[in-house]
Amino acid sequence: MTIIVTGGAGFIGSNFIFYMFKAHPDYRIVCLDKLTYAGNLSTLSTVMGKPNFRFVKADICDREAIFKLFEEEKPEIVVNFAAESHVDRSIEDPGIFLQTNILGTAALMDACRKYGIKRFHQVSTDEVYGDLPLDRPDLFFTERTPIHTSSPYSSSKASADLLVLAYNRTYGLSVSISRCSNNYGPYHFPEKLIPLMIANALNNKPLPVYGRGENVRDWLYVEDHCKAIDLIIHNGRVGEVYNVGGHNEMKNIDIVKLICKELGKPESLITYVADRKGHDMRYAIDPTKIHEELGWLPETKFEDGIKKTIKWYLENREWWETIISGEYKKYYEKMYGDRK
Ligand code: NAD
Ligand code: TYD
Repeated sequence: MTIIVTGGAGFIGSNFIFYMFKAHPDYRIVCLDKLTYAGNLSTLSTVMGKPNFRFVKADICDREAIFKLFEEEKPEIVVNFAAESHVDRSIEDPGIFLQTNILGTAALMDACRKYGIKRFHQVSTDEVYGDLPLDRPDLFFTERTPIHTSSPYSSSKASADLLVLAYNRTYGLSVSISRCSNNYGPYHFPEKLIPLMIANALNNKPLPVYGRGENVRDWLYVEDHCKAIDLIIHNGRVGEVYNVGGHNEMKNIDIVKLICKELGKPESLITYVADRKGHDMRYAIDPTKIHEELGWLPETKFEDGIKKTIKWYLENREWWETIISGEYKKYYEKMYGDRK
């Protein structure tokens, strides 16, 4: 079994590669990643030397490179994590989000059509459903909730989802989609809420909370997401969407206070800053479908997951400090600069 994992040098993709090598040690995994600012080859150092692992630096929009790789590898499954993933960046500059998230997905699926791939899995997000009001805790996103996006990021992901479903209906491509809530865990890029707050707190820097910090996100430990994708690509129904989330809603401000408490840092570091434009209020997933069809349930409770995550950031300071200082960019040159 050969699986192409795009975006595997990023947060969830790298965790997925580690998970898959544990769950299926005999699989061949080919990671295709452009190594944007969010991709970090050093994250993959523990699997780099495996005979059944290959890393290819390429852009999912580069049709020539993609088709060549499919020709060489003849993969059975493609899992697409590659994306521009940060809402704030999409508000500043939407263009690259449309390019990578929509056109890149189309290029990958065209290669899947040509080479008769058995399954194309699109890693999507609950953000395609827009947001829920804070005063209606009875409401959740189901797979039938209408698409209703707020940011250029979520709009680009929703557009890709529609294309994926269209490729299934029009060309009969064997696809599936997972829409997961906010992930947290090791190797999370320190521009996102949890790793940014941990890194800033450890450096005694202000903790910038948008607006009043009342916004609610539904947090899932990254390994639970990886397990859900593994189940879907093997047993999920073709042409279906599966919501993934663990009923773990938290207000941003409560997370930031918890991080302060765990690290023994004063809450006086918390600084309220201008709100994000179009800021979604609440995300909350109903995971009934994946539970009933595939038996998926989250395994890591938030109380344990956040402690594990903080511990990881304490023990792997070099990983995030080099990112913050921009040093990690040199890693690729060092590893691949002279290689033809
Ligand atoms: P990330 O930003 O940490 O990683 C993205 C990876 O994609 C990086 O390695 C980057 O180099 C690569 N990439 C970007 N553009 C590329 C291109 N044109 N060609 C090839 N590679 C490219 O993102 P993440 O948080 O790991 O998210 C992965 C996927 O999961 C995304 O599709 C995202 O929309 C989705 N998702 C994320 C979350 C979350 O909480 N982080 C939740 C649900 C869904
Ligand atoms: P983020 O990690 O960017 O994920 P998403 O926007 O995809 O949910 O942000 C999570 C929440 O934290 C979101 O409500 C915005 C908020 N936030 C802050 O308050 N301060 C910050 O510095 C960041 C990055 C996010």
